[in-house]
Amino acid sequence: MTSTETGIASIGLHLPPLAMPVEELASLRGVDPDKYLVGLGCSEISLCPPEFGIVDLASEAARRALSRWDGDLEDLGMIAVGTETAVDMSRPLSAFVAEELGLAGPIRSYEVKHACYGGTLALRQACEWRMSGAARDKAALVVAADIALYEQGDPGEPTQGAGAVAFVVDRPEIATVGIDSHAWSEPAFDFYRPVGESYPRVDGKLSLECYKKAAVECFNALAEGRDPAEVMERFSAICFHVPFPKMVRKAFHLVGEVAGWSAEKIQQLYSEKVEPSMLWNRLSGNSYTASLWIAVAQALQGLKAGEQVAAFSYGSGFGSEILSLEAGPRAREAAWSQDIERDVARRTRVDASGYDLLRGAVRSAAA
Ligand code: COA
Repeated sequence: MTSTETGIASIGLHLPPLAMPVEELASLRGVDPDKYLVGLGCSEISLCPPEFGIVDLASEAARRALSRWDGDLEDLGMIAVGTETAVDMSRPLSAFVAEELGLAGPIRSYEVKHACYGGTLALRQACEWRMSGAARDKAALVVAADIALYEQGDPGEPTQGAGAVAFVVDRPEIATVGIDSHAWSEPAFDFYRPVGESYPRVDGKLSLECYKKAAVECFNALAEGRDPAEVMERFSAICFHVPFPKMVRKAFHLVGEVAGWSAEKIQQLYSEKVEPSMLWNRLSGNSYTASLWIAVAQALQGLKAGEQVAAFSYGSGFGSEILSLEAGPRAREAAWSQDIERDVARRTRVDASGYDLLRGAVRSAAA
């Protein structure tokens, strides 16, 4: 049976229990805080204490999504986890999450890796699986979760963060995921983590160039010869993968320049449709695979059925894709907003010396 009625039926989010304002990192590194706040557009870095890891982060987001879904565990036929914080080279993160949730049986369970693009791929595969009929009307649990940590002193350190988003893919109560999407990939070494190394190797400037190229290609394909400004106007929000907010700003401005929009038009579209969906990203910091989907979850809150959201996904290496979503009847309720509100209210703020201690503890735990 083909499940044409496919999309996001419920959403769960989770941020870890610690956070540090970027000003604290600036004081530790002897940098003007405005470089991080204004130059990169960052605000807070979500952090994990040593006893809290990727399995806790991903499993809690999944629990929250499942608790808001009206199906049973037996109705799930797939669990797919997109991440670049794998804990094992063979055993997928989905097996660790399934263990936490008590999920076993006739279920396809796997991990998807493509840097920050892995969550998008997992979501698309789940939707395409249902639309193909192979799902026989079963639902899928999709999780995008990551902890982004750089070596201390790395230029990427102020962009660190962590977070998880989970979706139950079933009937589109929250949003339909459009079957049409546009992908673009090119092999590059902009950001990668060789096997056995704890931290990524990042050519930050190259990653920015790759990201901008990917955005131009994907948005051009989305416009398909139509006036791209008109195409943008039909979206209530245009969401991006957010390594740090300034990167999004630069990419969107380039998309506008290539399309020939005036500086005023670019600024108007950016302020109305792009910038507002990055509020939660500023609280999470970069969460790799979860980053775009945190922005999409924020943008979907309170939308009327039929309103549309664009989602631009990018993963270093590099692969990218733009897709569109249409709000369903229960987007208005925005039940998942409470996840972010609660996690942010409960989390402990860490200062510069606390961060130094924490990094020492993370190093000893990894040794
Ligand atoms: N006040 C305001 N702005 C300031 C400032 C100050 N005191 N000092 C510097 N800035 C601005 C710079 O002008 C620059 O802005 P611009 O790019 O608009 O010109 C910005 O802050 C960053 O400064 P820069 O010197 O380029 O920073 P850097 O070399 O230390 O690091 C990155 C920048 C992007 C390379 C680094 O943060 C990084 O590697 N990030 C991770 C990249 C990533 O996530 N890649 C994966 C992508 S998917």
